[in-house]
Amino acid sequence: MRNLFSILIFASLAFIACNNAQQNKQQEQNSDTTKSESMETPSTKAFQQNIDAKQTNLYVLKNKNIEAAITNYGARVVSLLVPDKNGKKTDVVVGFDNVNDYTQGGDTYFGAIVGRYGNRIAKGKFKLDGKGYTLATNNGANHLHGGNKGFSREVWDAQQLNDTTLQLTYVSKDGEEGYPGNFTSKVIYTLTSNEGLKIDYEATTDKKTVVNLTNHSYFNLNGQGSGTILNHLMMINADKYTPVDSTLIPTGKLEPVKNTPFDFRSPTAIGARINDTSNIQLKYGKGYDHNFVLNKTNGGLSKAAEVLGDQSDILMNVYTDQPGIQFYTGNFMDGSHTIKGGKKDDHRTAFCLETQHYPDSPNHLQFPSTTLEPGKVYKTTTLYEFSVKK
Ligand code: BGC
Repeated sequence: MRNLFSILIFASLAFIACNNAQQNKQQEQNSDTTKSESMETPSTKAFQQNIDAKQTNLYVLKNKNIEAAITNYGARVVSLLVPDKNGKKTDVVVGFDNVNDYTQGGDTYFGAIVGRYGNRIAKGKFKLDGKGYTLATNNGANHLHGGNKGFSREVWDAQQLNDTTLQLTYVSKDGEEGYPGNFTSKVIYTLTSNEGLKIDYEATTDKKTVVNLTNHSYFNLNGQGSGTILNHLMMINADKYTPVDSTLIPTGKLEPVKNTPFDFRSPTAIGARINDTSNIQLKYGKGYDHNFVLNKTNGGLSKAAEVLGDQSDILMNVYTDQPGIQFYTGNFMDGSHTIKGGKKDDHRTAFCLETQHYPDSPNHLQFPSTTLEPGKVYKTTTLYEFSVKK
C-alpha cells in the first residue's frame, strides 16, 4: 500500500514536472515568436555617425497609424510600420538596424533614393545635343542607379519640417559619376492622413542633363524577414512592358503583357508564373526585373499597382505620375545580409516597385524624355498607401 502510494506520488510529481517543462518550453517559444514578430523602429543612436564629414541620423515620422524611419544616408526608408489585420504593427520594408550596415550593404539599395539616373543606361553612354557623355559602369558593362556611389551612398542634408514631414536635399556636382551639370535634388517624405507615405521629388540643373529619381524600397507586406513574397497578390496597371536584352537593357519595343507571365492586370500571385523558364524575359531577369508601361488615367497621380500580403492582409496601393514602374522580385537577394531583427535577406523575400521613367531612356528617343534643362524644374510624386483588406 505504502509502495503504491509512493508510486502514485512519484507519478504525479513526474507528470507535473513534465507538464511544467512543456509549459515553459511553450512560453519560451511564444516569447520567441513575440520577439521575432514585434517590429519596432530601429534605435536613432545606431544611425548617428560622421560619414564624409557629414552627420547622419535617423528621423522618425509618425501619424495616427503609421510610423516611418528615414536616414539621411542615401535618403533611405529604414522602417515603415503599418497595422496588419490584427492591428499589429508590421514593418513592411527591408532594412538594416544601423547605418554602418548600410555603408557596407553591397549593392542592395535597400530603401534608398537612387539617382541621378535610377535603373540602367546601356554601356554608361548617352548623348545630349550631339555631345557624348560617359558614366561610371557599375553593373557589368552598364550604368546602374547612378553609378559607383550614386545618390544612395551620399549623406543628404535633412530638415524635419514637422511630425509627418522630412525634407532631404543633395547637390550633385557637375561631372559627378560622369553626368553634366550641377544638379540640386530635393526629396520630401510625408506621412499622409490616409495611411500613406508620399514622396515628392524636385530637381534643377545648371547644364542640360538626364534625370530619373526613384525610391528603392524592398517591400514584404507580411513583415520584412518573414519569408517568401511569392504568395503576395500583385496587380500592375499596365497593358505593356519594355522587354530587355540579356543585360537588362530595353530593346526599345513596348510589348503587350497579354498572354504572357507579365500580365498582372488582375491580382495574381507573384510566384504563379515566375519560374516559367520557357519565357526568355524571365530567364534574363532571373524572375521579374522589368519596367511596366503604366496605363494612365489622367495627367496627375494614377494607380500603378495594388499588392496584398497573403498573411497580413495588408494592402498597398501605389500611385504615381511617372510613366513606368520597375517590378523587381528580389532575384539577387541571397541571404548574405543580416537585416533588422537578425533576419536574413533571403532570395525573393521582398519586392520593389520603383516608379520611374523607362530604363535607358536617354538612348531611346521614342521613350518619354528624361532630359532636364537649366531653368526647368523636374517634379514628380509617388504615393504608397496602406490599408487592411476588407
Ligand atoms: C534592378 C535590379 C537590381 C536591383 C538591386 C533593381 O532596380 O532592376 O536588376 O539587381 O535593383 O540593385
